[in-house]
Amino acid sequence: MASEPAHDLTATAPAPAGFDGPRHVAIIMDGNGRWAQKRGRPRLFGHHAGAQRVREVVECCPRLGIKYLTIFAFSTENWKRTQVEVAGLMKLFRRYISKELRELDKENVRVRFIGDRDRLDAKLIQLMDEMEEVTRNNDRVHLTIALNYGARDEVARATRLLAEDVARGALKPEDIDVETLPRYLDTRVLPDPDLVIRTSGEARISNFLLWQSAYAEYEFIDTLWPDFTSAELERLCRSYGKRDRRFGAVS
Ligand code: IPE
Ligand code: IPE
Ligand code: MG
Repeated sequence: MASEPAHDLTATAPAPAGFDGPRHVAIIMDGNGRWAQKRGRPRLFGHHAGAQRVREVVECCPRLGIKYLTIFAFSTENWKRTQVEVAGLMKLFRRYISKELRELDKENVRVRFIGDRDRLDAKLIQLMDEMEEVTRNNDRVHLTIALNYGARDEVARATRLLAEDVARGALKPEDIDVETLPRYLDTRVLPDPDLVIRTSGEARISNFLLWQSAYAEYEFIDTLWPDFTSAELERLCRSYGKRDRRFGAVS
């Protein structure tokens, strides 16, 4: 299992935002293709524009009291796209990591990746490892990038690991409860998301953080991801601050 302790609570910080905002925000960054299409440009043009939005969003996190930001970059279902688009996205991820590594490290951002690495190319995996390694002592913002991530795939992989522990006698079936599975998920060192945002007008989850978001607040907004700004994130965080999260209890 991961050497890191679960739920890295040393990273807790008081929200400097002046309102009670979310500590962990997860974003389904959708709408790049439509953004490009509206401009008569190829889909990859939209993906490049989308990648450029990430920096501003990461940078505004400390001000908004967001300690954890998790972004959906590529799903286990996205392999169904054309070879041109998939290859272009993989190239974009390699370029993004090479280009942003120094900047994110300078900004004291810790980067992690979640998802199944097996299907990714060796060069990309090497860059992901390097980014995680270089930023491993940073703690201003914890940025998690979901790449070849699918929640069902994650739960299946976690179940396999859990079954292996049962088979070798390290875990008893009767000891398995709701605290057990999360320790095997890719997100085991992260707290659950408080707020999940999806851009582009689609009101669906598309296999993102199913277990972890059981009690998240959701925002489905019409903005296409390349048009998303820190001002919009601030608005959503303020709105989150006004919600009554009851978790099944009576307030
Ligand atoms: C999200 O934008 C990025 C990825 C899924 C990789 P889309 O490419 O899904 O954009 P739309 O939904 O087609 O507009
Ligand atoms: C979800 O968007 C995946 C990412 C944002 C990476 P999709 O565009 O792939 O989702 P669907 O196909 O609309 O459900
Ligand atoms: Mg889409």
